[in-house]
Amino acid sequence: MTAHRIAVSLPESPAGGYEILVGGGLFSALPSILSRFCPAPRYAVITDDRVAELYALKLSRNLHAAGHRTDVFAFSSGEANKTRDTWAVVTDAMLEAGLGRDCAVIGFGGGVPGDLGGFVAATYMRGLPLVQVPTSLLAMIDASVGGKTGVDTPMGKNLVGAFHQPRTVVVDPDLLQTLPDAHLRAGLAEAVKHGAIADAEYLDWIEQSAPALLAGDAEALCRLIVRSVEIKAEIVSGDEFEAGRRKLLNFGHTVGHAVEAISDFALLHGEAVAIGMVEEARVGERLGITAAGTSARLRRVLTRLGLPTSIPLEFDAAGVIERTRTDKKARDGRVEYALVESVGTGSAGPHGRWGHPIADETVAEVLSGVGSRV
Ligand SMILES: NC(=O)c1ccc[n+]([C@@H]2O[C@H](COP(=O)([O-])OP(=O)(O)OC[C@H]3O[C@@H](n4cnc5c(N)ncnc54)[C@H](O)[C@@H]3O)[C@@H](O)[C@H]2O)c1
Ligand SMILES: [Zn+2]
Repeated sequence: MTAHRIAVSLPESPAGGYEILVGGGLFSALPSILSRFCPAPRYAVITDDRVAELYALKLSRNLHAAGHRTDVFAFSSGEANKTRDTWAVVTDAMLEAGLGRDCAVIGFGGGVPGDLGGFVAATYMRGLPLVQVPTSLLAMIDASVGGKTGVDTPMGKNLVGAFHQPRTVVVDPDLLQTLPDAHLRAGLAEAVKHGAIADAEYLDWIEQSAPALLAGDAEALCRLIVRSVEIKAEIVSGDEFEAGRRKLLNFGHTVGHAVEAISDFALLHGEAVAIGMVEEARVGERLGITAAGTSARLRRVLTRLGLPTSIPLEFDAAGVIERTRTDKKARDGRVEYALVESVGTGSAGPHGRWGHPIADETVAEVLSGVGSRV
């Protein structure tokens, strides 16, 4: 087995950073990886019921066999459960089980258990070491890397959380074999984002490889995971707390988070981001920040991947704009957008802030131009 090792360097953190390990079969090697990167007398595995049903028994057997004491805490799957209530239920259960300060947390599952498990690790007894073991494509290439953890609130997504870096991230692409197709496609949306903000050739490759990726071809998926993780790791290295270029990773997420919330999570996160990228590219084109044709190119790639590219007609533009205002990126009465200059190149924005404050009216003009959307 050859594992790829991708480093995130964090000069300001005591450990200086961590590694993301990517390779088929790594799930079985977890006990020795934990001993090396995150030794602890006891582990709390935080996961959801679907992932638990498929993999928890194997995971705990494996860990027990290697002498690691392990407790599994599973909550009902889905974005609707990424809440303070679930955080309270999980932390209460951990307290009842007698987990102490010397324990470590394993965030095991998609981005929801990853974000929630990470937030538990950030807060339980003022912080426990964390290892991320992502099982969805979206979590493997995006959510598990970078140390953002948190939960949603009725006001918006991810509004309560913390930065809490993992000791390591263990990615075994073999686990994707059980991932439902819709979630595979949703993960591909974040890969398109990585290409759009940082690597035009990668976006070309994704477009050409769409049939293999959608068919679950192991080699294509592994290549995609490695390149996306490299891009994300490079961007978060040196910008641990999102003061600068890291904001580019929010491309597609301002409109995306708004439509995701309005759909009441009927749209998957990745689907909402696909829509958000096309709409935000159109906003950028309207302002002359983004090269003409960028939104059309993104729409073409996303369509090939079976992803939606426009706001459902029953959503009203004013409602979407109102939701963007509760996003964390709202500042001084204007909402900040991460934009691209062209495919593969993020825009540094005015004063190098990596964000463009954009008036609601401009976004409204673009979003309400229903006739121009095909
Ligand atoms: N922290 C970050 O930097 C960051 C970045 C991007 C996204 N996110 C967050 O990630 C979340 C979305 O992640 P997601 O799409 O993985 O959601 P998710 O965790 O709900 O997983 C999607 C579904 O797939 C199932 N699943 C996961 N792995 C599986 C497997 N191997 N086999 C079968 N089923 C499996 C889950 O049970 C769930 O039903 C959002 O909350 C988003 O805000 C966070
Ligand atoms: Zn995202």
